Amino acid sequence: MKPESLMMSYGYKPELSEGAIKCPIFQTSTFVFKNAEEGKAFFEVAYGLRKQNEGEELGLIYSRINNPDLEVLENRLTLWDEAEECAVFESGMAAISTVLLEFLKPGDLILTSNPVYGGSDHFIKKILPKFGIHVAMFKVGQSKEEVIKIVEKSGHADKLAMVYIETPANPTNDLIDIEGSKAIAKHFSTKDKEVYLAVDNTYMGPLWQQPLKNGADLVLYSATKYIGGHSDVIAGACLGSSELLKRVKGLRTFLGNMASPNTGWLLLRSLETLKVRMDAQAFGATKVAAFLNAHPAVEKVYYIGNITEKDGEQFKIKQRQCLTNGAMISFDVKGGEKEAFKFLNSLQLIKLAVSLGGTESLAEHPATMTHADVDTALKQELGVSEKMIRLSVGVENHEDLIYDISQALDKI
Ligand SMILES: Cc1ncc(COP(=O)(O)O)c(C=O)c1O
Repeated sequence: MKPESLMMSYGYKPELSEGAIKCPIFQTSTFVFKNAEEGKAFFEVAYGLRKQNEGEELGLIYSRINNPDLEVLENRLTLWDEAEECAVFESGMAAISTVLLEFLKPGDLILTSNPVYGGSDHFIKKILPKFGIHVAMFKVGQSKEEVIKIVEKSGHADKLAMVYIETPANPTNDLIDIEGSKAIAKHFSTKDKEVYLAVDNTYMGPLWQQPLKNGADLVLYSATKYIGGHSDVIAGACLGSSELLKRVKGLRTFLGNMASPNTGWLLLRSLETLKVRMDAQAFGATKVAAFLNAHPAVEKVYYIGNITEKDGEQFKIKQRQCLTNGAMISFDVKGGEKEAFKFLNSLQLIKLAVSLGGTESLAEHPATMTHADVDTALKQELGVSEKMIRLSVGVENHEDLIYDISQALDKI
């Protein structure tokens, strides 16, 4: 069956919860063992002290290690990406930072695409170096050979431990080649050391791009965005093979940044409508993009749907890895910050707020908001300019969205 058909039932047994049709919120810190032998057995499995017996499941111990709301949620999330295992976190940044800390150690090198979300950019460029981790960067459009040279020139090629990419890039919608990035990771892998590829898939969510199928080892989400989808919860997720997820969950246990039972429950509720929400958002985005493309006050539109054969490599990447055109649109207004702010301040239905992927449409100014912390020269080079607006299309009627955008553009 399709994942959307299983989002109401998969992994939950009503008979274990008084017949409740919905998984209740297991608002409990700890779980009572039937006897001491059971407690011992559960800990042996949780701490990897012995191999699990055939059919033996990890018993419930303590909500920092596991909890029914998180387990059902993690199992359901694996269905979209066809992942072996999932770990959920209290934020997207918690998922990202835990993965980076687990797979990198002092002296290692991380190779990252540019641009990435401002928070990830800060963690990679400003926090990881404090732990002796080196950072190399590449940009959209650079060939495999060019990127290999960047790694070699860093002087730490033998220490490359992770390739970290975000695609489509926030806020430019530039596409980074997942298969190509895996090829670079493989190029630097040896028989003693595998270089892993991690992909932040927040911008597309699990329906519109499935990086594990293109060769990624780990996929990361800010579940605050499409997965949560109602702008009322902060959460994150990481998916991949059981082997890698055991390591991720191990560090999560000791950092203590797992999601709470309440967050797990909210996301279970969100997952039931994930497909209908995302379908509506992608449809609305096609209409909004068509309107912006034709508007005289708009200089340029950054939308995956606008990538065509004449864009060469970007089009080939889109064909390989994007299942739809998404619902994120950035555009440059004619003018600069003054005109962009005038537009934002004139919106009536669309909210002026950061974040994305929720039911309500949001607009923001990346250069001074989400990407305020990114190096100014780099922002200019990447096209994150003062005239750029980022729009996350929600589930509203597209005619109302277009009316709102149109009246706000008229105010410039
Ligand atoms: C692409 C991307 N990755 C990661 C994050 C961080 O997620 P969170 O805010 O849930 O910590 C964000 C947040 O905006 C994002 O846009």
